[in-house]
Amino acid sequence: MKLFLDTAEIDEIRTAARWGVLDGVTTNPSLFAKVGGTYDGVLREICTLTPGPVSAEVVADDVEGMLREGRHFASLAPNIFVKVPMSEEGLEAIARLTEEGIKTNCTLIFSANQGLLAAKAGASLLSPFVGRLDDINEEGMTVIRELASIVEIHGLAAEVLVASVRHPRHVTDAALAGAQIASVPMKVLRQMVHHPLTDSGIIRFREDWQKAQTAAIAPEPSAVATARG
Ligand code: E4P
Repeated sequence: MKLFLDTAEIDEIRTAARWGVLDGVTTNPSLFAKVGGTYDGVLREICTLTPGPVSAEVVADDVEGMLREGRHFASLAPNIFVKVPMSEEGLEAIARLTEEGIKTNCTLIFSANQGLLAAKAGASLLSPFVGRLDDINEEGMTVIRELASIVEIHGLAAEVLVASVRHPRHVTDAALAGAQIASVPMKVLRQMVHHPLTDSGIIRFREDWQKAQTAAIAPEPSAVATARG
């Protein structure tokens, strides 16, 4: 399963890349609003640090506006995927960007049928939002399971990218459901690294190693007695 980082923070992307676990990045207007600079500048930098797809989201609500923004993002770097919201206009924009050879990520998917439509329109990535469904007392993972099965059964070219991930259990369940990608905030990526028994185990091994070192340099009690004569 591929792991993307859901962020526009350059330091977080650098860290995940150093760990060797970064396959791509998703951004959106809310994530960009948390960092400074221009969206173009941030995207360019993210693209140089990221081996795989980097999603850049359009904000226009009409097809021509989405196309204009999408073509512009695609000109910034070869690994840009244009993120387009699920809507009637969004589907048309995805279809036309696909015809032009521009890769797209259909976002704000909340049902398997929306995902199916996005795949038919040509989206390379389908982004169902698991956390926002859980937030309104729905079972977000059901949509992930349904969409992953539809992609598998019908051999669709699109990949399911699980978005709106809130905790590590979402990642495990998404992987078991057959989703190809999970895009996770840095907080969740760190939670995936750690386990209380791992962390306490590291401390205990270090302490025991230190005790062994101290014992090795301390003189044997018998040698001390002989020396005292
Ligand atoms: C990523 O593609 C989505 O925009 C993001 O995961 C949404 O997450 P949120 O529901 O935590 O805002």
